[in-house]
Amino acid sequence: MIDPVLTDEPSLADAYSLPLEDINLSDPYLFSQNRWEEYFQRVRDEDPVHYLKDSPFGPFWSITRFEDIVAVDTNHEVFSSEPFIMIGDPDKTIPITNFISMDPPKHDEQRAAVQSVVAPRNLAAMEDLIRERISAILDQLPVGKSFDWVSSVSMELTSQMLATIFDFPYEERHKLVYWSDMATGAPELSGGTAEPEERFAALNDMVNSFTTLWKQKAASRKAGSPVNFDLISLMESNEDTRDMITRPEEFMGNLGLLIVGGNDTTRNSITGSVLAMNKFPDQFAKLRANPKLIPNMVSEIIRWQTPLSHMRRIAKRDIELGGKLIKKGDKVVMWYASGNRDERVIDNPNQVIIDRANARHHLSFGFGIHRCMGNRLGEMQLRITWEEILKRFDDVKVMEEPERVHSNFVNGYSSMQVKLTPKA
Ligand code: HEM
Repeated sequence: MIDPVLTDEPSLADAYSLPLEDINLSDPYLFSQNRWEEYFQRVRDEDPVHYLKDSPFGPFWSITRFEDIVAVDTNHEVFSSEPFIMIGDPDKTIPITNFISMDPPKHDEQRAAVQSVVAPRNLAAMEDLIRERISAILDQLPVGKSFDWVSSVSMELTSQMLATIFDFPYEERHKLVYWSDMATGAPELSGGTAEPEERFAALNDMVNSFTTLWKQKAASRKAGSPVNFDLISLMESNEDTRDMITRPEEFMGNLGLLIVGGNDTTRNSITGSVLAMNKFPDQFAKLRANPKLIPNMVSEIIRWQTPLSHMRRIAKRDIELGGKLIKKGDKVVMWYASGNRDERVIDNPNQVIIDRANARHHLSFGFGIHRCMGNRLGEMQLRITWEEILKRFDDVKVMEEPERVHSNFVNGYSSMQVKLTPKA
């Protein structure tokens, strides 16, 4: 497989040739050119709590080892999620806020209001629908000819699921994916490439659509319809969130959070799982021979892929970590992608080992009060996808190195050509 490095892209230096203090782990090219592993390896070994005094995102600390990340993530009294959890600072002209970017008590109230949408009872009810949808997607794929797995499968499935959990008009579901990409794709947030005007228009469109949906649902409840188990209806019927529509920055922010939460992450895990089975063909053989390994493989893939590379915090007081003094007000970035490659905690971390013991002990869902709300839903989608793939195909062959997203936040793929071999 050949890495497609475009000619006008900067060519990154060897990670070991740079002065340590100049290493910039927020450079999105590390991710789009798939060079992040070597850079993080060096910092993990030589300067695990690393300070960069100047970057496009301002000065920031990088936390790169597994145990240090857990220590920061579980200490929300010192490490605040406010005002935002991506390395960049939000654009002040688009005022949004959401519960992933809030500390207690507001965080806890708003999370509690929507949590039941992914309660075990609801997930069990969703299982058949997810299987039906993934089956329909897989049955329509071209066999024996190359096509893009990202748009045909990963995006299609996640947009259908999002439309379901929001009870959003099904035929307009692709808008959800587009809005999500726009929400995280700003250069100042993640080093992405979304243009400000397009981004603004997209987010505006999102607010208008959801406002209409919110009002329609409220009207139908008033007319006597029972409460649905979709996110909007749950928010409308909960005391802490029922008037969210009157607080536009929270309304837009929380909906954006749920769209982004359920979109890029699952999409990139699905693509990453196919890539991993190609990079580690012995593991693919093991999986074909024993499909009971799928649930463990799902956790291993989510670790290996780490769909969100980082979350950031702000120190609320001076605190020492790894022998360094983090000052009140400093920006602290927990690099989950690096912690998940920390050989101090995970044996052979660069390898995908689908029957790895304790595979669920990874950082991809975070730790502490903000631990991913949709983790079981994400895992379930991936599990069902693989159960259905193995029923139909002997091989999903990746034809060339995928194109990767230009972002230090979303660790994923924009396209990946594959060819299917049906089951003999
Ligand atoms: C929070 C990753 C799927 C909704 C998070 C966090 C991470 C994450 C890293 C922040 C954790 C922290 O700060 O400690 C992932 C990954 C997924 C996934 C890797 C799939 C493989 C989903 C899905 C949903 C979702 C399907 C949709 C319901 C959320 C929400 C939060 C969150 C609402 C905020 C929780 C809070 O602040 O209390 N996720 N996520 N996620 N995720 Fe996920």
